[in-house]
Amino acid sequence: MTPNTTPWIRICHLSDIPRLGARRVDRPRGPQIAVFRTQDDQIFAVLDACPHKGGPLSQGIVFGHAVACPLHNWTIELKDGCARSPDVGCVKKFQVNVEDDTIYLNADEFNELVELKP
Ligand code: FES
Repeated sequence: MTPNTTPWIRICHLSDIPRLGARRVDRPRGPQIAVFRTQDDQIFAVLDACPHKGGPLSQGIVFGHAVACPLHNWTIELKDGCARSPDVGCVKKFQVNVEDDTIYLNADEFNELVELKP
């Protein structure tokens, strides 16, 4: 068995994000990340930029395992960052690890430069 060598960056405690809420996380470079907590305490992280026109998903309404973009109300699935049909497009999703009430993001992904699509 290969040991888990994934580097993780501590983001916050689970209780720092309310259920059906989100937290915006700054990165050293590139757009911010939106970390979401669902009603059933699942945590998802995607780029804080809607695939439509870059709306701040962290300010959207979380329902189920999705978020409604605050600008034009597209629904973005948090499990894959993709818009719900009939809309199309995806935003980058980030790996999340939750241990002992602490939320971590993958350090390699966190530091990777992700460009916004025009
Ligand atoms: S920018 Fe999100 S729906 Fe338009």
